[in-house]
Amino acid sequence: MRKHLCKILLAVTTVAVVTLSPAAISHLNDKEVPQSYRQSWFTMIALNFGPMVAMVKGEIPWNDDQMTVYADELAILTSMDGMRGFADGSDKGTTRAKPGIWENKEDFKAKMDDMAMAVKTLQTAANSGDRKAIAGDIAATGKACKACHDEYKSKDYLY
Ligand code: HEC
Repeated sequence: MRKHLCKILLAVTTVAVVTLSPAAISHLNDKEVPQSYRQSWFTMIALNFGPMVAMVKGEIPWNDDQMTVYADELAILTSMDGMRGFADGSDKGTTRAKPGIWENKEDFKAKMDDMAMAVKTLQTAANSGDRKAIAGDIAATGKACKACHDEYKSKDYLY
């Protein structure tokens, strides 16, 4: 179980690190507005979630106040309508979003909702200060990221 948790945390941190690489495109491309919107949104999600994972892994010092801020802001981000970034017609361009998203919108949206629910639970734990619960809920949130990425996010840009 512990090993499993570490694996998930590792997978998620890798995602967060990728965001900081020069290849990341979190700026605004006014010819691809929904694509820019969703990529920027996920970047902000990862930049809140990444440090939370790093605290659990002991890579940065655990700070209860900071953990709460990250969790609260992550909850604000995931309470936004992420589907705005996946408007019809935005399946091409500079993107890693697989075409299956637009063929299975309901399933994709359900995975989006799973993430929002996992983050709500995590927010409650973070505000309680219970570190064991926080670590468990971070792992659960990481699973929700991975469940969607495995199916709908390509490792490379597609077009
Ligand atoms: C419902 C599906 C879904 C969920 C849930 C999800 N993602 Fe993603 N994510 C995607 C898709 C699709 C892309 C590719 C977007 C694109 O390239 O247009 C993406 C892209 C990203 C990117 C790259 C952004 C960039 O710079 O282009 C990061 C980082 C990321 N996600 C982190 C996360 C984290 C962290 C979580 C969980 C807290 C998460 N995602 C949850 C579908 C999801």
